[in-house]
Amino acid sequence: MYRMIQLESLVPETLPGVALFIKHGDNHVLYKNPNLSFTQNDKERLLDNNVNQLFIKAAEMSTYNQYVEANLPILLSDDDIEPIVKQNMLYQASINYVQEIFDSPAIAIKQNVERCRNLISLILNDVMNSDGVINALSSLVDHNTYTYVHSVQVAAYSIALHVKMLELSRDELMDVGIGSLFHDYGKVYVPKELLDKPGKLTASEFMEVKKHPVYGYSTLKDLEIFTPVALGIVKHHHEKENGNGYPDGLFSYDIARSSKITAIADVFSALTTTRSYRNALSKESALEIMYGEMEGSFDMQYLDTFRESLN
Ligand SMILES: [Fe+2]
Ligand SMILES: [Fe+2]
Repeated sequence: MYRMIQLESLVPETLPGVALFIKHGDNHVLYKNPNLSFTQNDKERLLDNNVNQLFIKAAEMSTYNQYVEANLPILLSDDDIEPIVKQNMLYQASINYVQEIFDSPAIAIKQNVERCRNLISLILNDVMNSDGVINALSSLVDHNTYTYVHSVQVAAYSIALHVKMLELSRDELMDVGIGSLFHDYGKVYVPKELLDKPGKLTASEFMEVKKHPVYGYSTLKDLEIFTPVALGIVKHHHEKENGNGYPDGLFSYDIARSSKITAIADVFSALTTTRSYRNALSKESALEIMYGEMEGSFDMQYLDTFRESLN
């Protein structure tokens, strides 16, 4: 099994630490051994031959992810790389991180907590400096990676909304970013068939899916690395203003601001992304649903600000 990687994610004169392959017809041919540097010459020659993508073995994805994350600050400050490409690299690295961490035992989160903080910090910088988040992410979605892309998208939207609506310190924004990145972590404990089911869920299936905020909350709480703000987002991102949400059926006055804001980011991300049971909705249609049939779910002041920020 091979995974495609972007040529731009490799920093010249560094050791990627993984074997690199090129695709020739249906075959993957070894291009470079793990212990050889990737040089500027290599990069130019590949680009001259219209090669923008290389391949690595799926089993080496974790090594590659860590290599990219370690080099991200260099890549993101490289003026020769286009802003949109940089943004794509950042969000792709974040998606890869989420996929890796969701597929590993929970303890990996604790062992890798610095990786998470570094990525959220870079996303925070990106959100502060641009409003292109939406475009950068929408192109990265496919149905196999929905939960991972969605997690990163919700983190970016939620940070952006918090910046617009509340005066928070950078540390507080980091907590918000971490909480929203992990808001759906509990889904790793829900059977995949239910999450991907094309039709309507039965009542008992829906009961099962509705357990994910509590599963996520209790697992992450036990790691003892998440703040109450971050944990609150995980547990309460499906609460509704009118008390009809879950798991606790909280009313407006009992729902934390960060949970209210993340709830908006969450629903908007879900509606504007293609799912197994429907195509992605436009921003306008998503807002129509959030104001219309979902009336009573959201804090209106936050929702209004969100709508304005999209224009
Ligand atoms: Fe959720
Ligand atoms: Fe979600």
